Amino acid sequence: MRYKVALLPGDGIGPEVTDAAVAIMEYLAEASQVTLEITSHPVGGSSIDAYGKPLTDETLQACYDAQAVLLGAIGGPKWEGLPHDQKPERALLGLREALGLYTNLRPAKVYPAMVAASTLKPECVSGTDLMVVRELTGGIYFGDPRGYDEERGWNTLVYTRPEVERIARAAFEQALKRRRHVTSVDKANVLESSQFWRDVVHEVHRDYPQVTLEDMYVDNAAMQLIRQPTRFDVILTQNMFGDILSDAASMVTGSLGMLPSASLGDQYALYEPVHGSAPDIAGQNVANPLAMMASVGMMFSTTFQLPEAERTLTEAIDATLAAGHRTADIAAPGTTPISTTEMRDRIMETLQEIMERQRTSAPIA
Ligand code: IPM
Ligand code: MN
Repeated sequence: MRYKVALLPGDGIGPEVTDAAVAIMEYLAEASQVTLEITSHPVGGSSIDAYGKPLTDETLQACYDAQAVLLGAIGGPKWEGLPHDQKPERALLGLREALGLYTNLRPAKVYPAMVAASTLKPECVSGTDLMVVRELTGGIYFGDPRGYDEERGWNTLVYTRPEVERIARAAFEQALKRRRHVTSVDKANVLESSQFWRDVVHEVHRDYPQVTLEDMYVDNAAMQLIRQPTRFDVILTQNMFGDILSDAASMVTGSLGMLPSASLGDQYALYEPVHGSAPDIAGQNVANPLAMMASVGMMFSTTFQLPEAERTLTEAIDATLAAGHRTADIAAPGTTPISTTEMRDRIMETLQEIMERQRTSAPIA
């Protein structure tokens, strides 16, 4: 198979983690007999600097032409003072809207080697394996009217039936591949839009009798997430609640620097780490490239339909962590962290070993 991948390295640590992940992507592609046509394009603050806007028509066109987009990170203090509609973040929102990426999958899984790295107790964190299914192109992020003046600031929270139906379906489909439980998170005790959300989710649920559905208010969900994260399988929620809960879920697992995401629509797919551009450590070759690599893993299983490639990569990441190799963000106190490029090399070696073993070992009957 042959695929076009559009790389958007972006700002801050984005380019460094992109470089590291592309090396892994190319290796996995070759090993899986996939041919990749990779092109790279500006986005976010670096695009503002070069072209005066965060998302150019050329970059958008390259994304339309590709089967998958791999995005590093966007934003930084340099561009924070810009007017709202010119900020680097606009590029991300613009891409999500233009490519119709309404489903955002954010898995939060604890790598066994990382159980002790969470700020929560190991016995609380151990075994966490959940998937946040966040609605990504609607809700208060995109509602009109919106604006602010000297006296008021306002946004609008609207969900339509088709918007809720399709994201609910996406969540139930995820649940079928997992432990068959969906927690739909809303604020139906206060918000009309949430009562509507709840009603539609229950209607869609009739098509998925194999999946259990529970409703949970968002304040309670935030509490349950840090009280007993293992109780969740799929968390289905609206755009803004998903933004907040996925950050909380990521910290449960020990490091924001480890978690990937996929943003999917009916035609396009964008993969990116959950972490941001980390301007404080940019350009120092110390950033953790694992979230970006894991995002490449999601690309292989989702866009290329090669789940075994993702499984092998996950195994390589876990084995590398278990061998004690850590970048600064996850290194235990008193240990020496490795750099971004060293982590790339360690993952590459481990991948090669695992694949060599897969090739030479007879299949177990
Ligand atoms: C995220 C980010 C974005 C969001 C910002 C940068 C627009 O926080 O992907 O979670 O709020 O969706
Ligand atoms: Mn966020």
